[in-house]
Amino acid sequence: MTLLGPERTGPDAIRVAAVGDIHLGEDCAGLLRPAFEALPDCADLLLLAGDLTRHGEVAEARVVAGEVASLGVPVVAVLGNHDHHAGEPAEVARVLRDAGVHVLEGESTVLPVAGHKVGVAGAKGFCGGFVGRSAGEFGEPEMKEFVRTTRRSAEGLSRALGELTAHGCAVRIALTHFSPVPDTLAGEPLEIYPFLGSYLLAEAIDAHGADLAVHGHAHLGTEHGMTAGGVRVRNVAQPVIDHAFALYRLPLDGHAATAAPAGLTARYGTH
Ligand SMILES: [Fe+2]
Ligand SMILES: [Fe+2]
Repeated sequence: MTLLGPERTGPDAIRVAAVGDIHLGEDCAGLLRPAFEALPDCADLLLLAGDLTRHGEVAEARVVAGEVASLGVPVVAVLGNHDHHAGEPAEVARVLRDAGVHVLEGESTVLPVAGHKVGVAGAKGFCGGFVGRSAGEFGEPEMKEFVRTTRRSAEGLSRALGELTAHGCAVRIALTHFSPVPDTLAGEPLEIYPFLGSYLLAEAIDAHGADLAVHGHAHLGTEHGMTAGGVRVRNVAQPVIDHAFALYRLPLDGHAATAAPAGLTARYGTH
């Protein structure tokens, strides 16, 4: 673990702030804003790993927008399952985009940071489980569609990561809501692992490589994990990191290191 101080602001490293599962309701305006306003002093960008609202209501999205608008650092997000619950994910995304947030679903964005291209590929992801214990695209149409939903999201993540490679990004980050690996689910009941992520996301990440993979969703999980291909995975669900955001330092030689979390504490109960 490398502690990141304010003096380590040179272009030798990219400083990534990340949090997911903030689950803001209409009564949460101003809850995170004081901590987020410190971001320009300690981070080059903020990643939001989905479940930004409680129930996907547009009014809740407006609260999220108020927390992250005009922070002085770029903000990149994927939506989570909660952000879909009210059936208006496109409107939730629009409200966030109107606030300047890059909302990704099978898409990438390239940010100029300290003279370097920092690429983020994002997709919500979906369920299905992990190698040896995963759902298969077999049998009833409902089961096939369940697995196809995951596969399509993983394919979108793969395409987006490929775009980052084509752009020659110095740093490449994969951002999802669901987990690509079981490592970061440790602490969750084993019985619900198949509903917390999918190995197909990790296969997409390993196919292209990345300097960091960030996800949320697993509130009872563990922060640190790794794909089979050696990509560092971080579960930044707010109940896991126990702060307003986690900070990661990505040296431009490609080796990620964890920094100290900072900010506000909040806990939530559902995924
Ligand atoms: Fe979730
Ligand atoms: Fe959540």
